[in-house]
Amino acid sequence: MTTDLMKKPLLTMSRKILLFKAFVHISALWIVIDLYYKAINDLLGSDPVKEVIHSTGIGGLNLLLITLAVSPLAKKFKLSWLMRSRRLLGLYAFLYACLHLVSYAAFELQWDLSLLTSEIIKRPYITVGMVVFSLLLMLAVTSPDYCKRKLGKRWQKLHNYNYLIILLVPTHFYWSVKSDVLEPLIYFFMAFVMLYFRRDKIKQMLRKTN
Ligand code: HEM
Repeated sequence: MTTDLMKKPLLTMSRKILLFKAFVHISALWIVIDLYYKAINDLLGSDPVKEVIHSTGIGGLNLLLITLAVSPLAKKFKLSWLMRSRRLLGLYAFLYACLHLVSYAAFELQWDLSLLTSEIIKRPYITVGMVVFSLLLMLAVTSPDYCKRKLGKRWQKLHNYNYLIILLVPTHFYWSVKSDVLEPLIYFFMAFVMLYFRRDKIKQMLRKTN
């Protein structure tokens, strides 16, 4: 009996996945609920619109980086359960990007879609934001297992766009700030670290395209 207990791991693989996914759901949803609660109740300081756009944008970028950190971490520390939570993290990054876009369209442009079109044309950082959003939408739509099976090898090619996205978001951030560029530069650095872990794969991809 004691030896049986000693052999059994404290948490089974499925329990670890379940617990980690519960943690991701609770923290990602808590952050946005808290943000919009504070926005509605005028608790976000002098410029609540800026704060909401900032928090959802940074939240989306952080989640994208965390999603990309999963695979090197899981490989290094042999955490296969962590790999099974990668899609959920990516989908939350997309949810944050949706809230970022909706908050901008609603609070800053008052749903004036012709103004949004002219901003996309006029401001390069908005153009880049829109490109990233379209790519994230494509990845979110094709994320279910059914699409993975249907698309076969093309699925991985499609999802390699993550490597472009992680460079485009700091570009969007860099162009959106007027003076203090330190924060976007730190994000560029983190993006390059994530790409460095995939340098062999990226070199291979680039060789194929040449
Ligand atoms: C869908 C099209 C997008 C639009 C229209 C848009 C719009 C904006 C705007 C208006 C700002 C604030 C600029 C300022 O402070 O004056 C901003 C900042 C930012 N956006 Fe986006 N964005 C888009 C897509 C994205 C996406 C997909 C992400 C990443 C998931 C993202 C991440 C960020 C980040 C990290 C910032 C900097 C936060 C700050 O300090 O204000 N954006 N964006």
